[in-house]
Amino acid sequence: MTSTESTPDTQRTEDRVLSGMRPTGALHLGHYHGALKNWVQLQNTHTCYFFVADWHALTTHYETPETISAHTTEMVIDWLAAGVDPNKATLFVQSRVLEHAELFLLLGMGTPLSWLERVPTYKDQIANLKDKDLTTYGFLGYPLLQAADILIYLARYVPVGADQIPHIEMSREIARRFNNLYGKDPQIEAQARAAAAKLPDAVREQLLALRRAADQEGLTEKREQARELISASKLSRAEKDALRAQLSGGRRQILREPEALLTPESKLPGLDGRKMSKSYGNSIAIREERASVEQKVKRMPTDPARVKRTDPGDPERCPVWQFHLAYTDDATHDWVRRGCTTAAIGCLECKQPVIDAILREQQPMLERAQPYIDQPALVRDILADGCDKARTTAQSTMRAVRDAMGLKI
Ligand code: TRP
Ligand code: SF4
Repeated sequence: MTSTESTPDTQRTEDRVLSGMRPTGALHLGHYHGALKNWVQLQNTHTCYFFVADWHALTTHYETPETISAHTTEMVIDWLAAGVDPNKATLFVQSRVLEHAELFLLLGMGTPLSWLERVPTYKDQIANLKDKDLTTYGFLGYPLLQAADILIYLARYVPVGADQIPHIEMSREIARRFNNLYGKDPQIEAQARAAAAKLPDAVREQLLALRRAADQEGLTEKREQARELISASKLSRAEKDALRAQLSGGRRQILREPEALLTPESKLPGLDGRKMSKSYGNSIAIREERASVEQKVKRMPTDPARVKRTDPGDPERCPVWQFHLAYTDDATHDWVRRGCTTAAIGCLECKQPVIDAILREQQPMLERAQPYIDQPALVRDILADGCDKARTTAQSTMRAVRDAMGLKI
């Protein structure tokens, strides 16, 4: 029990980022301006794992599994088109890293049913998707599978939209519960004291102050600062582990509590002004044909007050204005405001700079996608490689998990 040999090395995992998307097929500009642009930035500063959550897709689409593989390829090509770089981030497919299933199963042993039933999306989705029977074991387990996805990489940050926050919160509770149940270690206090004695006086005192603040005032950021202080110290791996364990209430931290990294909401609405969504039929795909982009924008509804070309309008009542805000510069905004309110410009004229900007944004994405469209084997290779890397990490966590649970002979 006291061996730290299979404690995963949390030091190098400090900044791991993990996120996943269900394979829904081709992505649209809302996905690009929301999630993907954020991923592309994160891959430059963090160790990133991005994966296709195909098992999650099956929780709702178990009757049509045949669509999943094509949707996976389409979606990954869009990731690559957007600039997600397989040399920087690890791209993989959930169903090919079987360890996710093992952790999901083991976590399920100690997860109260009530935790799953009270996730807000659970009852909502069952009510919303009436044409599907979602009173299944798999669908109830959705957030637990997501917790396994996250915890198996000891991810620190999980970039997600606001709708996913309850799932991340539950992942934190699951990690805490796991560490409480299986991380008990009577020798920790003694080991931690011995380790602390080796620290320079000033550092030891600072650590003590942070730990007190965290324990007595419940300030989680103090605990995080203390963790950083421990990581930065010159102690051995085992000594650092002991100090970290003391920090988490005498438990070894086998699984890490992740933090949600809230993805800023895309400023781009759909063509009709509602949220952009494929199911509303108001989206522009990342790799939409040029002619189709032009046609879609030209057909966008505008301020209903502009019936005739000579009727003035108000940009605030027009979805095209939101596109200008996302795509064009201040000078163009002035031109639109003035031209619209005085009827100096027509709506088609107003839409042209938006069309140009979207096409300009898409050009490099189309170019990046082309080799993968020509040779889908390249996508398979990238994913095979990513799956291997992800599996190595996942296996290391699973060794520690099995060990902590006593599943060892
Ligand atoms: N539930 C997420 C969604 O619908 C997808 C997902 C599955 C995920 N596992 C994850 C996201 C792990 C982040 C981390 O968008
Ligand atoms: Fe909308 Fe532009 Fe037409 Fe005004 S001029 S209603 S902002 S499209």
